[in-house]
Amino acid sequence: MSLYDRIQATASFIQQKTATNPTVGIILGSGLGGLVDMIERETSIPYSDIPNFPVSTVEGHSGQLIFGKIGNCPVMLMAGRFHYYEGYSMEEVTFPVRVMKALGVETVIISNAAGGTNPGFTIGDLMIIKDHINICPEHPLRGPNDERLGTRFPDMSKAYDHDLIALAKDIAGEQGISVRTGVYIGLQGPTFETPAEYRMLHIMGGDAVGMSTVAEVIVARHAGMRVFALSVITDLGVTDVPVIITHEEVLEAANAAAPKMAGLVAALVKRL
Ligand code: HPA
Repeated sequence: MSLYDRIQATASFIQQKTATNPTVGIILGSGLGGLVDMIERETSIPYSDIPNFPVSTVEGHSGQLIFGKIGNCPVMLMAGRFHYYEGYSMEEVTFPVRVMKALGVETVIISNAAGGTNPGFTIGDLMIIKDHINICPEHPLRGPNDERLGTRFPDMSKAYDHDLIALAKDIAGEQGISVRTGVYIGLQGPTFETPAEYRMLHIMGGDAVGMSTVAEVIVARHAGMRVFALSVITDLGVTDVPVIITHEEVLEAANAAAPKMAGLVAALVKRL
């Protein structure tokens, strides 16, 4: 079956399970589940029940699609995402984003836990992503292009919607939350970076680094959806002194910042 046909089949399956017609799709990063409690839930579907969906393998990613409302806005939320380092192809990693589009989603909101490479950052900071650098080894649009899904050579000059960034900054100001803005570098993982790599990433123009998001953003833009993305800075690679980083610390820092992130995203969704 072609990618297009698989997307359609999966979307049809989901439409039989939910009465929600989502206009916003949300992807939650590691440890950032707080937003789940802010949804007035209609239905949830475990990934394992969804045809053509990969199954998430990482601790901290529970693996279900949740449908419901935030305020008056119909949303679908991915609790758990797929990472390239798990062994999935970039087409698999981004398949749910394609399905979002097929279900009518117009705006995608993406969150992640990321390492800070900007020396001005602190653990627990929220960073609105204003741009990215893609150094993942596989591109999600590599291969024959199906024009029904998007154009061959998509523009990336405004991958992160400027109006949504401005709105999110306003909301953060109203909520008294300080937010950073910066460039996210996406790479494959699963190793955290060496001190020399963190330094290189900062010199390259990165403020934060992580193992997700970029491919999802590319596919969302290919599909013509608006994107807003946000990192929680869970660790710092900003000195020449090696700092040991563990997945547990990343999850802990993400969990601690999750309520702040959830409040911001929920308020943003209500004002779309
Ligand atoms: N590097 C890459 N990915 C990450 C990091 C990091 O320091 N922290 C959380 N995800």
